[in-house]
Amino acid sequence: MPLMLHGDNTSLVLAHGDGPPAVVYWGHSLPDDNPADVASALSRPTAHGTIDVEAPVALVPELGSGFFGSPGIKGVRADGSAWAPRFKQSKPPEVGDDHVRFFCDDGVAGLDLEIELWLEGGRDVVAMRQVLTNTADTNYSLGRLSLSLPLPSRANEILDFTGRWCDEFHPRRQLWEAGAVINENRRGRSSHDHVAALFAGTGGFDEQQGEVWGFHLGWSGNSRLVAERLADGRRYLQAGELLFSGEVSLNPGESIISPWLYGAYSPSGLGMISRAFHHYLRSRDGHPGPGNPRPVILNTWEAVYFDHNLETLKSLADRAAEVGVERFVLDDGWFQNRNDDTAGLGDWWVDTTKHPDGLGPLVDHVTGLGLEFGLWFEPEMVNPDSDLYRAHPEWVLADPNYEQPLGRNQLVLDLANPDAYDYILNHIDTLLNELDISYIKWDMNRDHVQATHAGRAGTRVQTLALYELLAELGRRHPKLEIESCSSGGGRVDFEILRYTKRIWTSDCNDALERQRIQRGFSMLFPPELMGAHVGPHVSHTTRRTHDLGFRGAVAFLGHLGIEWNLLDATDAERAQVKELVGLHKRFRPLLHGGDVVRLDSQDEATMTQGVVSFDKTEALFAYARINTARSSVPDPVHFAELDPDRRYRTQILALPGRSGEFGRTRPQWMDDGSVELSGRALMSVGLQPPVLDPESALLFHIVAIDGK
Ligand code: GLA
Repeated sequence: MPLMLHGDNTSLVLAHGDGPPAVVYWGHSLPDDNPADVASALSRPTAHGTIDVEAPVALVPELGSGFFGSPGIKGVRADGSAWAPRFKQSKPPEVGDDHVRFFCDDGVAGLDLEIELWLEGGRDVVAMRQVLTNTADTNYSLGRLSLSLPLPSRANEILDFTGRWCDEFHPRRQLWEAGAVINENRRGRSSHDHVAALFAGTGGFDEQQGEVWGFHLGWSGNSRLVAERLADGRRYLQAGELLFSGEVSLNPGESIISPWLYGAYSPSGLGMISRAFHHYLRSRDGHPGPGNPRPVILNTWEAVYFDHNLETLKSLADRAAEVGVERFVLDDGWFQNRNDDTAGLGDWWVDTTKHPDGLGPLVDHVTGLGLEFGLWFEPEMVNPDSDLYRAHPEWVLADPNYEQPLGRNQLVLDLANPDAYDYILNHIDTLLNELDISYIKWDMNRDHVQATHAGRAGTRVQTLALYELLAELGRRHPKLEIESCSSGGGRVDFEILRYTKRIWTSDCNDALERQRIQRGFSMLFPPELMGAHVGPHVSHTTRRTHDLGFRGAVAFLGHLGIEWNLLDATDAERAQVKELVGLHKRFRPLLHGGDVVRLDSQDEATMTQGVVSFDKTEALFAYARINTARSSVPDPVHFAELDPDRRYRTQILALPGRSGEFGRTRPQWMDDGSVELSGRALMSVGLQPPVLDPESALLFHIVAIDGK
């Protein structure tokens, strides 16, 4: 009997006969329908010229049943058997209100398969994973363990992301006609260039329009996503870990658990998918919710780089406290021999030439100012020029028979080696015990290349060891918060977020580049997780110059930080930063608790995104002119997700440090100071923005005034 699960706005019908379970419908909510009728309505006839029984797009599609797309499981035993398993249900599924668990086996291949799928009411996010067990008495070499979901034929356009260092979440839009779109990541981290996420939708889907299905694989190692249209017309998305040859060999009786695959459906555009993903993350244990406001950070990296001097750092902390910063993060450069990026990684004790009395005096100074103290680590790495490497060259995640290439002058430590793991855990733990450190910026700055543990491909075991290390530190230090950084946003996924509370979105603090980077980031992650810093006037990665008004308007929307040497700033600039921080704190509950809304625009020279409070009584939208425009006057802004039946007052929220002008005259409503309109009017009539200079922004503050 088919069965059905319901979210708030979505339903999912699963068919399960004898063979492996398959989703036959996933879309619009169907509260009044019977799953058997839905399955019957969609049952497929057999065409000429193919096998007589069409193999379903099962959750784990089977080559052995005649599925000619990408099989969900790929593996083999040493004698060549079990290469195309066919599962049968071994017992009835366990069905709950919001989940189902299927149990399958293949007695011939000697494999058991368990699949769980959740669709929790009020969330609209499907979460699935599987467990494969080797029940035979020989090893099973596994090359793939992926999950698949079908997509309707009308989902014929794809949005996913490419990117690079300082250019995360670069959107890539393409028509999806015949064949497959494949996204394979082999970097050993979730990567800048092959983010494990994909959105497929009806032609021309955008933020507020079109049906869209979104996917994300919650995994911080290698991944493989395939979106394929088969010759018989069916489409599906498949995602799982990318496994190298020999990487997983299941011993008799051994099991492997796949990463979670997440999906969300929206009948009306991408925005709703993002909000579903954000609600899901916000509902998870440990997510920094309203009771744990995100402290404004000062990060020392772009302020002093490796040039650590106690008095300078103390003065920087003083300045930080004056402008309202709440957490001071000492970045790279504090540990033994770390004067540049050629040495020191692995030697996690304080450099006594820079800090003769250890970090205690600085930590005391910072905490004495009422700020939290945070410290940078890059625990998975080692420089060849380090005491650790000189003592233990064998701890590197590499094949000793080959020369391992360096990346940023460093090698990867094999955390699945218990000695290396204990060494790292103990060194971090010692510092956390000795000093009042409440925060770690956990960095990871190079790709895995030929990553070898115990003679086999080792990215999977490394990723699991990393999770365990983070979990163990969390158990030992329950109040500790950790930020996930990987050369900026090279490790961003739902699984790392079980252990971390912030993502360093990008090493690029250029406010112009950040417009797009943050927009892409927000497709999956809510703003309270998005590290966003006000850098110096001149961006250190692009050399572009921006006024504080623009830098502030962009960083304001995330987890705000400052990464600028405030000792170089003028009194007036520091006063402006203080004002910005104050405004951010005032709006923090809205910014970090509201619904993210990205607006569509025909005008490629502008970008608008913001947040609307849950009860739709307040909203803030950042409107940015990112380029010179073809037309001299910009289009009205059409807001979204407001309550059409409420009245709102809209005005400009003045951010400090804005230079530039608003054209020769401004729209009437700006001269009046504000305008009062219904939500319906704000969404359908829109609001005329002023003429802005390129690379500048302003904030619209919208407040309900009807007292409902
Ligand atoms: C990486 C991070 C930066 C900074 C440097 C320090 O590039 O992404 O934010 O911490 O390392 O070396």
